[in-house]
Amino acid sequence: MDIIPKPTLLTPNEGRFDLTHDTRIYVTPASVEAMNIGEYLGERLRPATGFALPATPTASAPSFGHIYLSLIDTDAALGEEGYALRVGAEGVTLTAHRPAGLFRGIQTLRQMLPPAIEQRAEQPGPWSLPGVEIRDVPRFSWRGAMLDVSRHFFGVEDVKRYIDHLAYYKVNRFHLHLSDDQGWRIEIKAWPKLTEIGGSTQVGGGPGGFFTQEQYAEIVRYAQSRYIVVVPEIDMPGHTMAALASYPELSREGIMPSLYTGTDVGMSSLNTRSNFTYQFIEDVIREIAELTPGPFIHIGGDEAYKTSEADYVAFIERVQGIIERHGKIMVGWEEIAKARLLPQTVVQFWRGHPSSMALARRAVEQGARIIMSPASRAYLDMKYDRTTPLGHTWAGFVEVQTAYEWDPVGMNMELVEDNIIGVEAPLWSETARTLDDAEYLAFPRLAGINEIGWSCAAGRTWEEYRGRLAAHGPRFAMMGIDFYRSPQVIWPV
Ligand code: ACM
Repeated sequence: MDIIPKPTLLTPNEGRFDLTHDTRIYVTPASVEAMNIGEYLGERLRPATGFALPATPTASAPSFGHIYLSLIDTDAALGEEGYALRVGAEGVTLTAHRPAGLFRGIQTLRQMLPPAIEQRAEQPGPWSLPGVEIRDVPRFSWRGAMLDVSRHFFGVEDVKRYIDHLAYYKVNRFHLHLSDDQGWRIEIKAWPKLTEIGGSTQVGGGPGGFFTQEQYAEIVRYAQSRYIVVVPEIDMPGHTMAALASYPELSREGIMPSLYTGTDVGMSSLNTRSNFTYQFIEDVIREIAELTPGPFIHIGGDEAYKTSEADYVAFIERVQGIIERHGKIMVGWEEIAKARLLPQTVVQFWRGHPSSMALARRAVEQGARIIMSPASRAYLDMKYDRTTPLGHTWAGFVEVQTAYEWDPVGMNMELVEDNIIGVEAPLWSETARTLDDAEYLAFPRLAGINEIGWSCAAGRTWEEYRGRLAAHGPRFAMMGIDFYRSPQVIWPV
């Protein structure tokens, strides 16, 4: 069974279960949330099978021949996202301790069906599930993916499609990079020029765009319905040209910023010594915090080359206080570890330099935890090899094996498992103009990086993984994902 991420424990059984016209999805308890999850499973399976698959409330296990989703009498050791799945001739039983666990288990079920299940038009079938016993609990609590909507803008429908791909691989954090030099992409009511001016273009000078607050809320709800927490990022004090062009008073005196459509980094900074800047940040954080039910706000903090170290440290500490006052946990790129951090702060490791190692150590000494996004492994915008038409090479080529064959603990640092909150695969969009481009860069690497975040390190090998990955080629194709057919994988024809 070619499930990605690889389940913790999987034992094949004799027998199999066939979906038919008569199959129902029984759900207990009949809570709105549990029924929504049952309905979600039905929605996924109906188009290709043509079966009704009604989600049906029940108080007890159904008789022979159905799917049974249960949140009752389960084992607390499954935690927030774990699940247990049994498939046999008698039916399918999926149990979890919490709703998110049921949702994750449904992704496993989808992957056990033939790839054609992902078609949106009716297919001949048959729809057999192989007999199995699975117990599956994630290793890390943060399994993320980042999409940069600043360098090129991606609209709500594109973002929802990307979220659906993430859900399929059990990702649970969606980091939205909402502002950068080339574009400000989220409406802030108190500062309307941010989107009017700052959202008006993108890399290469296209029309850009932005999310209204209603659209952002819609994305958040969509992600929530897939048990994915949105982590909004407003990058500061660098990467702020779009904000500065909108409100030149935010920059240092004597500088007249303008919109920027190139791809350099490190040339902008908010005026970190001005109270006006902190009023701006206060308003932005307040509005975003109100729109964001998840506990995290990412403040960037990377590549602030136009800010002195002393100013940078004072700035990060002051912004951290603002985030805390709005009841949120600050996340930032590794550079923020230069500052005094609150113990709940989350630091995102990215460059993989010796200085990154030192910053990560400094962060954990302050009680912070680390998201591992080493660019040379986890950056989805690196080229696969020299022939890749899109992407960058500054962190090297990242072939599919390179993106898979590493462990968050053991990146040559003095970190232990408990210091690490998880992994994340960022996708910067300087060269990705369309969602098709983004999908080509993300797939298949994203699947492997999320396996690193979910599955046990023990027994995880490239040789075994690449066989499972090959079986996902037809699934990508059925989903309309134009993926990179790496020569390292023997794809079925
Ligand atoms: C980054 O790639 N500038 C975090």
